[in-house]
This record gives sequence, structure tokens and C-alpha cells, in this order.
Amino acid sequence: MTVVSVIGAQWGDEGKGKVVDIFAEWAEMVVRYQGGNNAGHTLVVGGQKTIFHLIPSGILRENARCVLAQGLVIDLKVLTDEIDKLDESGLLAKASLHISDHAHVILPYHLTLDRIREEDRSGAVPIGSTRRGIGPCYEDKIGRRGIRIGDLYQPERLAELLESSLAYWRPMLAARGETAPSIADVTAYLAPLAERIRPFVTDTVALVHDALDEDVPTLLEGAQGVMLDIDHGTYPFVTSSNTIAGAACTGIGVGPTAIDEVVLIAKAYTTRVGSGPFPTELSDATGDCIREVGAEFGSTTGRPRRCGWFDAVVSRHAARVCGGTWLAITKLDVLSGLDEVRICTGYRLDGREINAIPLHGLDRVEPIYRTMPGWKEDITGVRDAAQLPQAAKDYLNEIERLAGCPICLISVGPGREQTILTHNPFDT
Ligand code: GDP
Ligand code: IMO
Ligand code: MG
Repeated sequence: MTVVSVIGAQWGDEGKGKVVDIFAEWAEMVVRYQGGNNAGHTLVVGGQKTIFHLIPSGILRENARCVLAQGLVIDLKVLTDEIDKLDESGLLAKASLHISDHAHVILPYHLTLDRIREEDRSGAVPIGSTRRGIGPCYEDKIGRRGIRIGDLYQPERLAELLESSLAYWRPMLAARGETAPSIADVTAYLAPLAERIRPFVTDTVALVHDALDEDVPTLLEGAQGVMLDIDHGTYPFVTSSNTIAGAACTGIGVGPTAIDEVVLIAKAYTTRVGSGPFPTELSDATGDCIREVGAEFGSTTGRPRRCGWFDAVVSRHAARVCGGTWLAITKLDVLSGLDEVRICTGYRLDGREINAIPLHGLDRVEPIYRTMPGWKEDITGVRDAAQLPQAAKDYLNEIERLAGCPICLISVGPGREQTILTHNPFDT
């Protein structure tokens, strides 16, 4: 039995959706366990593009049971829209979808709260959140006033829980001129959505453990990326969940020893959406070129992504805090045509050289670069690592060495087929 975890090693959008779709060929179960529809995972199969915000990217493989585990925060409208789309395309009949009764529910006023907070941070810089209500929903969860999926089917309990959540938020909504909804409004909104998902709701802890007992090969699909982790990222410019490999343990309910392989996914360069420090950011023509060629516009919000060079300090940090065993490098094709490519090997902060993410000052570090020759060849058709231009091979070798993790996959285009697999992590 093998359990493989796939984790974004930068600030999200590393190509997790594509890589999960590739690995799902060997998985019989794919599990998402944190975040919500702040995620946008794009898959291109047979030239057709599909974006999932909640449903695991393994759903396009008929062999996989797809699980939304209890660490998620779920917007029922977004989920039912995704379920309906799967239904229209005939995929739902073939799919096996399971939703945790313990997962928390994003409520309509969580979206309002997310928006008004972003609009008025009382002098503080906005986080640039996706405004999907993720932060306020996790706040209700940690504040012990959240609504869980299983509560939707117990009307009295649901009304009590809603009252405790609304009692907390009403003053803030009122202070910003927003009217808090009534409990009747919220329950009327939730009722049909709860009915739509009812057939899929289950105890996913039991489901996953039964599968693991039967040696079902399993893929764990992380959302966001290590640098957006609430504890290990660029706080406060982070998301409201843990995104590192360990989050799978709490979000699913498995022990750390259940995970056999941790695949870190990184782009061959770096991007970030939203505010916060980004040492290797390029605010010049090269950054614009990467954004255009890499189509770096958010799958969730459509915002242009900030672009910059590969940061090996970040990948080393990711490898450490996640216990990374393999590295998957995506979007190598996007760098083709550049005269030279750069890798950040360390930072200079207040005159000192450092090789770790500092608690303070990441916004004013000076990156130390290793500059390497670029390559001109179009590599989108390459399927064998040996056929890559020598400069691209040297670049990958340097990334591998600095991150301290061997490469198992190189992606050279968005398509499922545009993939060079150098090691299958399910072959242990
Ligand atoms: P995720 O959130 O980590 O799943 O990543 P996103 O889907 O938000 O963003 C990655 C984008 O890059 C998507 O549009 C993918 O189709 C695309 N993509 C993935 N791998 C490659 C690649 O190797 N080359 C190119 N050119 N595009 C890629
Ligand atoms: P995937 O799974 C990139 C960023 C937002 C913002 C911060 C907080 O597609 O990689 P939130 O709405 O979570 O409270 O926003 O986190 N962010 C992401 N950036 N990819 C994502 O997901 C993201 N999910 C959240 O842009 O800076
Ligand atoms: Mg994304």
C-alpha cells in the first residue's frame, strides 16, 4: 500500500491539479483535506480544460474514489455547482464522491465579512484574499461556533449553532453598515443545498481507514502552498489553514506514519497572488514575459499573478517542514527562450547572508542569485528527460541539489501528455 501526498511548495498555483491528475492514474482514492474554494486547480485533458475549486482533481480518473475530508471548509453552492457540472458531463455516474460530515460550512455572511475586512483593514495592508469567506469560516471553526456538514440535517441544533455564530459577527456587520441575515434566511438558503449533497455525506475517517486497511493506493491532494501556511508561511499574508504535509494528518484523521511519500510541487520559477513578501519578484520585462508566456492569471479570481525567479530558500524550507521525498517541477517550458535563468540561493538581510526564511524582514531581503545560461528550444514536445537541452538539465540539477530533494516529474506544458515522469512515487 502506498500513500502519496502532493503539496504546493511555493505560494500556490504550482500545478497541483495537473500533477494530481497524473498520479491519480495509480491511485484508487484521492483525498482533499484543507482549504476550500480559494483553491483553483486546472486540468487539461484531451485539450479540454477543467477547473476544480473543491472536488479533488482525481475525479477525471474513473478508478478513483474522491474524498472531501473534514479539514475542509465547504461552500455548498460552489460544491453543488461542481457536482451538477460533473453530472451534466456524465462523469458523476462513474465517479465516487464522499463528503465528510465533520467538514465546516462556509456561510453567505462569511463572504460578506471577508470582503468588508479586505476593504477596510483599518490602516493595515489588505491580505488580498480570494474573498471566498475562507478566513471567517475557519475563525468560526477555531472559535467553536462553526457549522459542520452533519449539523445541516438537525434543524434545532443548526439554529442554535447559527445563533452563536451570528451573535459573534452581528456587531461587526452592523459597524460596517451591513445587515446580518436572519436565522430563517440562512436555513432557507442551506436547506436545498444540504439535500443535494446528502447522498455523498459520510464518516470519511471510517471510509479512509477501511480503504487503507485494504491497501488501497491513496493520493492526498494539498491546496495552496507551504508559503501560505498559517504557521510556516509569510504570516499574516497567508491563508487560514495549515497547508504543509502534516495538515493531511489532522485534516483527514491519519497518523504521520500513514504517509509514505511527500511530493513537493514547484514551478520552474515563482508566482504569488495577493499581497505579502516575495523576494525574487520581477517587476520588469522578464516578469511580464513570464506572466504572458505562463498565462499567469488566477484560476479562482482571474487576478494577474506576480512572477519571479525560482527561490531555492523557499524550496528548502518546504522540503524541511513537509519532509519532502520528491520534487515535481512544472512549467519548465515557460522559461524557454530566455537568455539566462536565475535561481535564488540565499538572502542578504541587514548585511548578513542567510539561507532560511526569517521571521521578520523577508520583505526587505536582497536575493543572492546563481545565474545560468538559458535555452532557446521549444521543449513542449519532449517526453524523455534525456532529450531536454543541456542548459535545462543543468538548471534542474541545480534546483534538485539546492532543494535537497530528487525530481520525480517534469512538466513541459498544461496537457496531461506534456509530462516527463522520471520516477513513479507509487513505486516504493
Ligand atoms: P494549482 O492551483 O496548483 O492546481 O495550479 P493552477 O491550476 O492554479 O495553475 C497552474 C496553471 O498552469 C494551470 O493553468 C495549468 O493548466 C498550467 N500548467 C500546469 N503545468 C504546466 C506546464 O508544465 N506548462 C505550462 N505552460 N502550463 C502548465
Ligand atoms: P491553489 O490551491 C494561490 C492566497 C490569496 C491570498 C491569501 C489568503 O489554487 O494553489 P484566502 O482567500 O485563502 O483567505 O486568501 O492566500 N491564496 C492562494 N493563492 N493559490 C491558491 O490556491 C490560493 N488560496 C489562497 O491570494 O493572498
Ligand atoms: Mg490554483
